[in-house]
Parts: sequence; C-alpha cells; structure tokens
Amino acid sequence: MHRSLIAIALVSAAVVPAFGQNNIVGSGISPSAVTNSATRPISFAATVPTNGALVIPMRTATLPAGVVDASTSQALDAAIAAAKYEGKEGSMLSLRGIGGYSRILLSGTGDEGDRIANIRNAAGKAAQDLKDEAQTVAIAGDLSAEEAAAAALGYALGQYRFDRYKTVDKKAPPANPVTVVTSDSGAADTLWKTRYAAMAEGVALARDLATEPANVIYPESFVERARAAFGTTANVKIEVLDEAAMRKLGMGSLVGVGQGSRRPSRLMLVEYRGAGTGAPLAFVGKGITFDSGGLSLKPGLGMWRMKADMSGAANVIGAVLSLAKSKAPVNVIGVAALAENMPDGNAQRPGDVVRTLSGKTIEMLNSDAEGRLVLADANEYVIANRKPAALVNMATLTGSIVGALADEYAGLFSRDERLANSLLSAGAASGEELWRMPLHKNHVEDMKSDIADIKNTAEGGGPGASLGATFIGFFVDKETPWAHLDIAGVNWSEKGYAVAPKGATGWGVRLLDELARSYRAE
Ligand code: BES
Ligand code: ZN
Ligand code: MN
Repeated sequence: MHRSLIAIALVSAAVVPAFGQNNIVGSGISPSAVTNSATRPISFAATVPTNGALVIPMRTATLPAGVVDASTSQALDAAIAAAKYEGKEGSMLSLRGIGGYSRILLSGTGDEGDRIANIRNAAGKAAQDLKDEAQTVAIAGDLSAEEAAAAALGYALGQYRFDRYKTVDKKAPPANPVTVVTSDSGAADTLWKTRYAAMAEGVALARDLATEPANVIYPESFVERARAAFGTTANVKIEVLDEAAMRKLGMGSLVGVGQGSRRPSRLMLVEYRGAGTGAPLAFVGKGITFDSGGLSLKPGLGMWRMKADMSGAANVIGAVLSLAKSKAPVNVIGVAALAENMPDGNAQRPGDVVRTLSGKTIEMLNSDAEGRLVLADANEYVIANRKPAALVNMATLTGSIVGALADEYAGLFSRDERLANSLLSAGAASGEELWRMPLHKNHVEDMKSDIADIKNTAEGGGPGASLGATFIGFFVDKETPWAHLDIAGVNWSEKGYAVAPKGATGWGVRLLDELARSYRAE
C-alpha cells in the first residue's frame, strides 16, 4: 500500500469504531415498518351492556347477582349445572346463544388466595380466549373499583399480540372496546389511567423488544426503540455511551463481548426522577441482542430463542417506562447493557483477559458466559456515576436456573436482607414471583482465576446460576445493597401464562414497578 493510503487508513481507524456504521452491515431485506394490529381500548362503566361478548369472573358455581337479566341468568344456571362448572381458578366455560350476547365467557377466579390477582388472571385468560372475537367485550361481576382496574390490567396484558410481520392469513379482528363494569367506575378509571395503563405499556414494550428478531433489534435499534417509547415523557433523561466512549473509559469487559459482531455495542441509561433529588434505585439489565455463544458457539437447536437474550434490558426499560408514564413518586435508573455476541475474526477468544472500568481483570474462559461480562462494566459504571441507593440486576443469565425453577419463579440472589425481602414481597404483590437461591463464600473460591482477578466460568459445571451471580456481585461494592434476578426461565413461556400469551412475557416490569414504589432504604 502507498504510504499516504496507509496514513489515511490509520486516521480513519482512529475515528470510526471497528467495522464502521451499520448501513454497511445490512442483512438483506429488513422487515417492514408495519405496526402490530391494534388492541382493544379499555374503559369503565356502571351498567352492563346487553350484547357483544360478556366475561363474568366466577368464584364458584354461583353467578354474581345483578349482572344479567332473569331469563339469561336462568339459562346460564342451567348451562353451569349441565357442564358441572365450579368457577375454579383458571377454568373457563364458553357459551353461545344465550340472551342477547354473542358469547358469554365464565372465567374462574376460585374462592381462595389473592382476590385481585385472581381477577387479573381471569381477565387475562379471557382476553386470550377472545382474541379472534370481533364483538365488543364487557367484563362484569360485582367488581369493586380496585378489582375492575385489576381486570382491566389483566385484559390489557392478555390481549397482547405481535403480528406485524404477518402478511398472509392475518387474523386481526376489529379492535372494538372492552368495558369493565363497576359501580365505582370513576375510581377504577383513575387507577387505570394513573397506574395500570402505563404498566401495560411498559410490558408491551418489553415483549416487543424481546420478540423482535435480531436483524431488527440490535444495540443501536434497541436504543432508538426505547427512546421513541419515552418520547417527551416528563422527568426522564437518557444517556447513551457508544463503543468509542466505552473504550475510552476502559469498559473492556462489555466492549469485548460485542467485538465479534458488526453491530456496535451500547450502554443506555434511562433515568426517571419523580421524587426530587434522592439517590435512585438502579435496575441493570443484560441486553444481549443475540447470543450465538461467540466462539464458544451454542448448538443450533433452539438458538433462535437467543434473540430474546436482551430481555433483562427490555424489562428494566419497560419498568422505568411504567413508572415514568404513571408519574410515580420514585427515582429510578434503568440501564441496558447492550451487545451482540457473535463469532467473527475479531471475536474474543477463550482465555483472553479483559479489564473492567474499575481496573479489575477477568479471564474470559467461555465466550458463552457473556451476560455477566456486560453486567460487570454496567454495574461499575452506574455505581461510580450515579451512586444508587440499591442495585438490582436482571438477566437471562443461565440455563442452570431454568433447570431449577423453570418458568414459575425467577432466581433471586442477594447479600442484602432488606432488599431481598422487599423483592420477595413485591414478587408476591405483582404475581411475578421469586425464589431465593444461595450465594456461598466457596463460590468466590470457585471463580478465582490463575492469571487474573476472576474468571467468567468454572469449568466442570457446578452450581451454575450461583456462580454467575457470584461473578456479577464481584463488580458491586459491598456498601451498595445488591440483588440479581436470573430470569432465563420466566422471560419466555412455551405455554403462556394467564396474563401473557405464549412467547416473550415481559417478566419483571410489574415486579420492579412494585419494588420501586415500596422499597425503603432503611
Ligand atoms: N443466555 C444464556 C443463558 C440462557 C440459557 C438463557 C437458556 C435462556 C435460556 C447465557 O448467556 C449462557 O449461555 N449461559 C451459559 C453459561 C455457561 C457457559 C457458564 C449456560 O447457562 O449454559
Ligand atoms: Zn446469554
Ligand atoms: Mn451465552
């Protein structure tokens, strides 16, 4: 090469981050700008409509009084008796041809446990069942304002659909409204508008981000989608570090994960201040927009699901959206540690040593244990720059937690009893439940490296979820109350939940919203 060309190459290499911008890494035809089909708008009323589809939450086999007229009630009683329907939690009885209704759906709440949660779930199941129903929908059954708002939330979560890439046989009935009936419709409407509508929006954002394929959502486009969702929401500040900024700061662990990808990494911080100047709670999420494993390549079967390996980041951003849009009196900061884990000629190699922001060194023995690597730098950055009152990590971190807890509970790891207990209560209140898992001092020994401060895996297996948590905890100072939630099982549901159709669940938006509102530092 001619001398002056070499000089130009050197200069441009210094300015442009490795592999340049993403307009040169297009992957063929990216999907359209079509949005998902509209969902039903939700409102409240004091009287029960006499046509359309009607959902009645049932505690037992007995119809709640005053929902339908005498002859409809008689026909329903006969149907209930014939079907031996008992209103058990999760059970449904769908009836057609009764009264003036196109359909009557009895949705069981059972008579035990948390009434609000049961009603939310019954409405969520009904929404999934009615997804192809064109008629208007009413939900009625002697509901208090709080119960009606919970039904609205359940319906909103259950009716989620992701169909923007379907062009053939698209089943999208007109989005006729849902009316939830309660004698106190004003109070229900207030609760919905000041809290639950925003929560449903946060969950939908999280599900969209996780469901989108990795040729659509990569670090830069994640940032743009999240930014668009916040729009001009008050008291929100967004900060984004690009690769050059992270390199300059010495965030070698996060940048190292993304260096085998042509999609540049990002660190996104979304701060919402609804409570003045106090220290914020920090929620730091793993945002691997695709996890191929890197050079420690994953097997092919099911690898596609790793498009959702940014669920931790999506869910923490969704939680901040929920809090900000509902103007909650809290200070929070959501952090998305974004990178794509790919195996190219510039990918990091097993055995490489990288250095984090604080100078700690990591021996990277397995490039498939990448979530902990991006979280190490993200944790150090938010602690050094924002001094949070507490820090909660959320990550699809290990297959090990899926084996232990499946999709019923997320794993909770914490060395702070107050924070752990607050999280457990918020889990019970939100319906997104946690199971406490161990951190043991022997795990610290297991993660010691021969040549660096710590290694990212202990070969030979062991308690994988705990070892991952131990690694992350190494990058949080002992004074900051810290917890880590391993959501690898709960972020995706094969069967679906009452309030989540099958697929990405947006798990943790409601939990973190509840935690932010209830957490007391002392
Ligand atoms: N993203 C995966 C964990 C995962 C597995 C999420 C299954 C969802 C479903 C993570 O990056 C990973 O690959 N973890 C490894 C860690 C191991 C190499 C120490 C694992 O769990 O096998
Ligand atoms: Zn991963
Ligand atoms: Mn991995």
